[in-house]
Amino acid sequence: MATTEFRTSPLQRWFPHTTVPFIANAPMYGFATADLAAAVTAAGGFGFIGAGFDFAAQSSQLQALDAELSKARSLLKIAGPDEKLPLGAGFITFRPDGFVENAIPVLFKHRVAGIWLAFPGTSTDHAPIISAIRHSREKEGWDVKIFVQVGTMKVAKEAIEQGADVLVVQGGDAGGHQWGQGASIMALVPEVKESLREIGKSTDVGVVAAGGIVDGKGCVAALGLADGATSTIKSRQHDVFQSTDFWPAQYDGRAVIGRSYEDYEKGMTDKENIDKYKIARDTGAKTGGNERGIVWA
Ligand SMILES: Cc1cc2nc3c(=O)[nH]c(=O)nc-3n(C[C@H](O)[C@H](O)[C@H](O)COP(=O)(O)O)c2cc1C
Repeated sequence: MATTEFRTSPLQRWFPHTTVPFIANAPMYGFATADLAAAVTAAGGFGFIGAGFDFAAQSSQLQALDAELSKARSLLKIAGPDEKLPLGAGFITFRPDGFVENAIPVLFKHRVAGIWLAFPGTSTDHAPIISAIRHSREKEGWDVKIFVQVGTMKVAKEAIEQGADVLVVQGGDAGGHQWGQGASIMALVPEVKESLREIGKSTDVGVVAAGGIVDGKGCVAALGLADGATSTIKSRQHDVFQSTDFWPAQYDGRAVIGRSYEDYEKGMTDKENIDKYKIARDTGAKTGGNERGIVWA
């Protein structure tokens, strides 16, 4: 199971059929079949079929994937063959030969909405695969996103550079294979999110936590990890917007990132922001809603 933060996550934007928080099943080869993936998607999550690691022209794994994707389409009652299939397939990539030539055509034929790559043999294995998927989606108008499972900061940075749309941050508490040099999601998820924020990509790249998340408590903990860097922010600006910046200089406050903070980040002056805040507050008092209200969190 995997989950991530909600407010600014691109995942809900890209996959409108999913509920909040975004939950995907892992593409466990040999276990995650069309039945599981279709059930996860039907329940408001994002289903993945575990598709294996053999990309040869006559690969029985790719033939099985073809059949499983047809089955998923019929389970979800998606009639048209060109209609997007709102689930994905996941691959183990340490023997990447043949992926571009033999796996991508199967995925495109079924118009999968997600492709999950994990466990490359070298740091460059994913680059040609990602660029071929990106090329195909632009050329064909194929609405597909690329998930890359990562277990260290170094690998996360490589995946971002190579064009991953979603990072599945797998912690050391995960079941199954994982990075020998990995860390727990408690350390890794905030670090990956911070790094995305530093390069201005926190709303372009989705982050999903994986590892040991098996119940509601785990989901809440993962949301907490993922939340700090994007949904809320620690800043003195919140007090500036609502004219309560009489707080002594050693204090700031954490609040939900709202319209005022977004405008501030885009360069709006404090004066204009404060004026807009006052208008929204006064209008809100009449209509019962204030889109610029500061929500401490
Ligand atoms: C039985 C099993 C099979 C797995 N197979 C794959 C796989 O084929 N591809 C993959 O990317 N990850 C695979 N994983 C790892 C998962 O993607 C994920 O990181 C892990 O299951 C998360 O930990 P959790 O099971 O504690 O939630 C597998 C995990 C398990 C337990």
